[in-house]
Amino acid sequence: MSHATVSAHTVKRVFNFNAGPGALPLPVLERVREELLDWRGSGMSVMEMSHRSPEFEGINAAAEQKLRSLLGISDDYAVIFLQGGGSMQFSMVPMNLCLPGKPVDVLHTGAWTAKAIGELKKGILHNIAASTEPEKFTRLPRFDEIKFSSNASYVHICTNNTIEGTQWTAPPETGPKTGDVPLAADMSSDIASRPIDVNKYGLIFAGAQKNLGPSGVTVIIIRRDLAERADKNLPTLLQYRTHIKEKSLYHTPPTFAVYVVGLVLEWIESLGGIPAIEKRNDAKAKLLYDTIEGSDGFYRCPVEKSSRSKMNVVFRVAGGVSRSAAAEDRPRRHTGPPLRRRDAYLPVQRRYLRSRRSSHQLHARIPPHPWLKKSSTVVNHKNNNARRRNLLLRAIVFQRSFRLNRKAALRRRPRRSARRPSPRRWPLHRRYQVACRSASRYRAPLAHTHAAPALARASLFHRRQAP
Ligand SMILES: Cc1ncc(COP(=O)(O)O)c(C=O)c1O
Repeated sequence: MSHATVSAHTVKRVFNFNAGPGALPLPVLERVREELLDWRGSGMSVMEMSHRSPEFEGINAAAEQKLRSLLGISDDYAVIFLQGGGSMQFSMVPMNLCLPGKPVDVLHTGAWTAKAIGELKKGILHNIAASTEPEKFTRLPRFDEIKFSSNASYVHICTNNTIEGTQWTAPPETGPKTGDVPLAADMSSDIASRPIDVNKYGLIFAGAQKNLGPSGVTVIIIRRDLAERADKNLPTLLQYRTHIKEKSLYHTPPTFAVYVVGLVLEWIESLGGIPAIEKRNDAKAKLLYDTIEGSDGFYRCPVEKSSRSKMNVVFRVAGGVSRSAAAEDRPRRHTGPPLRRRDAYLPVQRRYLRSRRSSHQLHARIPPHPWLKKSSTVVNHKNNNARRRNLLLRAIVFQRSFRLNRKAALRRRPRRSARRPSPRRWPLHRRYQVACRSASRYRAPLAHTHAAPALARASLFHRRQAP
């Protein structure tokens, strides 16, 4: 395919609701496309530039400057771009900010604070100052429930719990005076979504892939004095002071990701800055929560109203298995009554619809079938009749799900073998088709085809119908 054909194709963009990597603004992607081969007359792509070149130093400095002006970050704070994602910070923050004999206080509010605690458990003194785990993280701790240590090194908080759909509206006071005990905030999923007072935090970190750009770069905003807490014997690359001193260029940074972050920040600025973004987020969240509330219980938000996130709106489909949001993120394990094999492939919503329809609703919706009507006179056995009706019903349900869920159905299809498979191994819809065909075509008995008992009964029925 030539370059010409690629650009001639119209781009089909979908609605992307992923939490991260999230959708990037189209104007940003178009700008990337324009500058991909030749960044502003440099004759090369940003991906090919030396990170020591004046061009890239300019890109790096501009991205930092934009973030400073949008979030109102003072000179007391350093802004650095690192690698390793938000997860790397679960280790790097305690490595750099822990003071001997002083614990890390954690506000445990979900899967991401659990990961941070997991790292602390590897030998760092810590204290869970509050946890809403017993309530499956469906709310945030109230201020009066939090029990800070008297001498904490710092407090770890996740301002927006991506998976659980909770968000702190204001950070808790961590000492008699703001800043007494520094607050280290994981803002991976709500940075730049609303105005914040950076001075209330000692350190903020955020993987860029949700709100600021592509994956690969993590933004750190750190009070300069805190970076000096770290032991100088820590690995060089794991000390914040190294990156502050070298303006994020101690080693090769994720250059392209930093460039795209700069473009996203420029785009935010063009819309009217963070207050304008907050307005958009408010409107989007309202639309979603109103829809959930107005769905007459079909959708249900498990999160307490006062703790609800404007960034990640979680909901359950009524009748779905009620589990903790964190559990939802794990590979799904069915906890209800045993599923038929094919049901296991269906998403929860489909299972719900199926379970409601399949029994009485679908039953009622099936038009009266000539077989069913006649069968009562031909096979004058109540049980047999019910079984046949059941067989037909299952075939219809299967066909419906086959159409609706083609992929899953294809996965279930028996392998084609060179030999014609025995009818005993045919899937139900096949038996059903054969049974239908036999009604119109065959007079001869079908018993010798070794059909399964259900098919045999059906064929017996056809034979009885034959003139
Ligand atoms: C709140 C929060 N913290 C941390 C992370 C981990 O980020 P990363 O995948 O960049 O390590 C995520 C990722 O989804 C997140 O939502």
